[in-house]
Amino acid sequence: MSLRVFIPRDAGAVAVGADEVATALQRAAERRGAVIEIVRTGSRGLYWLEPMIELATPAGRVAHGLIAPGDAESLVEAWLSAADNHPLRLGPVEEIPWLKRQTRLTFARCGVVDPRSLDDYRTHEGYRGLATALTLGPERIIEEVVNSGLRGRGGAGFPTGIKWRTVAQAQGPQKYIVCNADEGDSGTFADRMIMEGDPFVLIEGMTIAAIAVGATKGYVYIRSEYPHAVAAMEAALGAARRGGALGRHVADSSYDFDIEVRVGAGAYVCGEETSLLESLEGKRGVVRAKPPLPAHKGLFGRPTVINNVLSLASVPVILDRGAAFYRDFGMGRSRGTMPIQLAGNVKHGGLFETAFGITLGELVDDIGGGTASDRPVRAAQVGGPLGAYFPRALFDTPFDYEAFAARDGLIGHGGIVVFDDTVDMAKQARFAMEFCAIESCGKCTPCRIGSTRGVEVIDRIIRGEDRTTNLEVLEDLCNTMKFGSLCALGGFTPYPVSSALTHFPEDFGATPKHLVAAE
Ligand SMILES: Cc1cc2nc3c(=O)[nH]c(=O)nc-3n(C[C@H](O)[C@H](O)[C@H](O)COP(=O)(O)O)c2cc1C
Ligand code: SF4
Repeated sequence: MSLRVFIPRDAGAVAVGADEVATALQRAAERRGAVIEIVRTGSRGLYWLEPMIELATPAGRVAHGLIAPGDAESLVEAWLSAADNHPLRLGPVEEIPWLKRQTRLTFARCGVVDPRSLDDYRTHEGYRGLATALTLGPERIIEEVVNSGLRGRGGAGFPTGIKWRTVAQAQGPQKYIVCNADEGDSGTFADRMIMEGDPFVLIEGMTIAAIAVGATKGYVYIRSEYPHAVAAMEAALGAARRGGALGRHVADSSYDFDIEVRVGAGAYVCGEETSLLESLEGKRGVVRAKPPLPAHKGLFGRPTVINNVLSLASVPVILDRGAAFYRDFGMGRSRGTMPIQLAGNVKHGGLFETAFGITLGELVDDIGGGTASDRPVRAAQVGGPLGAYFPRALFDTPFDYEAFAARDGLIGHGGIVVFDDTVDMAKQARFAMEFCAIESCGKCTPCRIGSTRGVEVIDRIIRGEDRTTNLEVLEDLCNTMKFGSLCALGGFTPYPVSSALTHFPEDFGATPKHLVAAE
């Protein structure tokens, strides 16, 4: 009897023993004289169940979760005897409620396919978007992306199609596609999951972007903390080149396009697009003043599309299924789906892709299952280190760019970090300022100096020194950073600080002045 088992190669699964589980299963099968084929996939994103492995059966894949190497013998024994009562059996994968509730458009293949096999990608509807793109041509590709309503998933939510149109219309002997895979936001890992679990979808998205704007060269800028993603991308790029999906005459068309991986040296600010371009050019990651926009003068001074991994990875399904299909999901001006990442002190941490419009409360309480510590949820920080802290009172906020902005928050890259009632929000506010001080590129004064002064002022408030005056100073400082900083690192740091002060004044030892005034 032969067994076919799918085991994630994803860094999150490997960190909790997926490689050892694979080895133990291989040995257990060999000991019984059974043939076992182990396919290494990406993760399905149910991280609290990793290593989660899947057995191929005539009725589809059956999941088993929280597997340790010591479970290998009993698992193989159960599988060979066709018993379906192993205590770690979770049932048919597609029926697991956490997965069933999702709308996986960008992540449709993640955890399903072998990320190193171009054939597997093609078998699972891969490269259909590119095929459509080649029949449409540049202008109509851009029209589709504009009409889909896709907005940048890296943080700012800028319409992707409009950005592409600007680059398409820009003049230049050379244009570039740059994929921002720096993924520095706290609690985020969706870019990493795509690169490790379905790298061809990113390659396909970048190729479509290249055809749309007339670029022949692309770069994927990956943070150095992602060695598994770097390896997966390199393997996929090699396979794509060998398979004719990259290089001269991509997919037998008249277009040429190739992609290189570049590894960053580890700085949050290198995720900021102009700083990233500096870094790609081999310089220190310092933010550039805008204008000129990267779309006009980007990498090496040439017109450049710079997009987040998720923005680019969402393009193939848009081209394949059509703009109308994609924009049918979502609410308001937030169209399509968002791969939301649940992290921090949460019971069910992982990747949950769903249409925009779901509320923060549903995500934290229902899908996330509350805190891992089983204590009450007190706050959630959404959108990375520059995102606001939302108290429970704001948990009715729908996941939508405008709804979050209306409450002085941002959805950013879709990361949610959950905190229980033991969190000290004054410390969190201090941390936001300290983070900014450490990560500041130093180019502008409000951020470079303001963040350091901010830490000092918060320390004085925490110590109870002249609270009223120091709260006023902090408010003034926050306004200076907000309106005087060159980029969003200095400009958005006030949001976590002010939200902590506004919603959790008790942690600062006194009611902030502006709250007293409002009473
Ligand atoms: C300090 C800072 C860090 C950022 N980090 C990232 C990042 O890690 N990944 C990312 O895609 N965008 C990041 N951004 C946003 C980028 O500047 C840019 O908006 C994005 O790459 C554009 O792609 P999109 O339109 O597809 O979102 C960051 C912005 C700032 C100000
Ligand atoms: S806000 Fe901070 S990170 Fe941004 S340009 Fe100014 S100093 Fe650099």
